[in-house]
Amino acid sequence: MKILVSAGPTRENIDPVRFISNRSSGKMGYAIASASADAGHETTLVSGPVAIPQPPGVQVFFVESAAQMACEIRRLAPCADIIIMAAAVSDYRPAEESKSDSKIKKKSERIVLTFEKTEDILAELGKNKKDGQILVGFAAETENLIENARTKIKFKNLDWIIANDVSKKNIGFDSDINEVAMIYKDGQIFYFPEMDKKSLGKEILSVIIARSYK
Ligand code: CTP
Repeated sequence: MKILVSAGPTRENIDPVRFISNRSSGKMGYAIASASADAGHETTLVSGPVAIPQPPGVQVFFVESAAQMACEIRRLAPCADIIIMAAAVSDYRPAEESKSDSKIKKKSERIVLTFEKTEDILAELGKNKKDGQILVGFAAETENLIENARTKIKFKNLDWIIANDVSKKNIGFDSDINEVAMIYKDGQIFYFPEMDKKSLGKEILSVIIARSYK
């Protein structure tokens, strides 16, 4: 199969030396891409800035901003059988009036920045989903994990969502371990106990693949 994975955070520039981002390490998405290549699938990864090595056998495209990630995913999505959006795409970027081409100097006691919404890449993929294409999203939540994840499946027209409780300090963002619930569009839930992200990547992929052949 042709599998497209996104991973890592995005960075939204404020000025030439500053940006807004999030705590995503990219480890979960990289583990899924790695498991996919190991299983013999033609695997492409669109990655935000991360500090981990490229997985062997995976074609990697690096991006920085949400807009760049949207551009790469739009280009690659039409050929993919399965798309797994593990990237923590910034929901907002500094609006034009809050960005500067030169370094913002420390002149005032307080500065106020305005942010505008970025493109929701996954929702767009859901709208343009090809027949038979499998779309998988992640839901990073700090409360009402399952309920919020279920809303995202419907709203973004997904086949699967992987719900991640990011309020737990020892797991999830920037950790080597994670604990997730995978929800299928028919409501079925698979719970995965705490485990290292490499093993979890394999488990997640095998559940998606098993259901894709049905
Ligand atoms: N996502 C995306 N484009 C965005 C934001 C998110 O494609 N601009 C994708 C993520 O890759 C993830 C899914 O949407 O697979 C859900 O991301 P999440 O941050 O949990 O939810 P949001 O849709 O951003 O909603 P909220 O932040 O309000 O929970």
